[in-house]
Amino acid sequence: MQKHLIEDIEVTLLLESIFQRYGYDFRNYAKGSIKRRVYNLLQKTGHHEISELIPRLLYDEVFFGSVLSHFSIPVTEMFRDPSFFTELRRQVFPALKNYPFLKIWHAGCATGEEVYSAAIFLVESGLYERTTIFATDFNDEVLRRAKKASYSLKNLPTFAKNYELAGGFFDFSQYYRVENETMVMNEALRENITFANHNLVTDGVFGEMHLIFCRNVLIYFDKTLQNRVLELLTRSLIDAGFLCLGSKESLIFSSIVKDFKEMDGKERIYQKIVEVA
Ligand SMILES: C[S@@+](CC[C@H](N)C(=O)[O-])C[C@H]1O[C@@H](n2cnc3c(N)ncnc32)[C@H](O)[C@@H]1O
Repeated sequence: MQKHLIEDIEVTLLLESIFQRYGYDFRNYAKGSIKRRVYNLLQKTGHHEISELIPRLLYDEVFFGSVLSHFSIPVTEMFRDPSFFTELRRQVFPALKNYPFLKIWHAGCATGEEVYSAAIFLVESGLYERTTIFATDFNDEVLRRAKKASYSLKNLPTFAKNYELAGGFFDFSQYYRVENETMVMNEALRENITFANHNLVTDGVFGEMHLIFCRNVLIYFDKTLQNRVLELLTRSLIDAGFLCLGSKESLIFSSIVKDFKEMDGKERIYQKIVEVA
């Protein structure tokens, strides 16, 4: 049997073991990316074969925790893709002003930078007060960091530059204080945010959202899983609600394309079509 075929079987067994033992379902993550992560994990842990990883994963919960973090790739930054935030404020926020209260969901929020970026623009647009924000991820470690809202000062030049490029109204320095070599986001920005564990693959709908961010998460899923998650996001939105995806993600060729109007193809902003009764 060819070596790569055996490796494919071993990866499948590894993902099946994780699912059966812990309920985390990576079976429909994009094969290429999951394999890269498995090989990277082998190198990091000093194991030579995938088959050695499986029993360790099954019996060692602490080890599984580190594997979960390794599989989660929480790469993010404040005002990531600044032009997206410019268009969000220009095209989406005016429509949100029509609602007396707002519910916003950041699905796959990682360490929270995307959430605080949107919160800053909501404050600047006079929308924050009426908004409840749900920020979820399946990785508890990144959620802990997101709640802490404390980021290394090394990131500051990028964050401040992105804010400026996105068209922020003020000086970025007014949104954080410096404490122990970190920038800590203002309390006022955190007031309306609830961080919670939610797994897009195995958990259910978050109802009646006006706006959903699910950016740079679907790229890690295969087509079948992308469609399943997109259907869950669609059911979580009100009619005429907005869905924002990452720059390499799209609704084209998805099972829900007919349910949405493309508001901005470049920035991947979509609006759910109102159902006629
Ligand atoms: C690359 S980060 C994106 C962060 C942010 N949305 C952004 O665009 O900057 C992807 C995040 O998705 C999360 N994620 C991956 N699979 C998930 C799942 N099944 N359910 C919930 N979150 C998931 C990861 O833990 C990670 O924090």
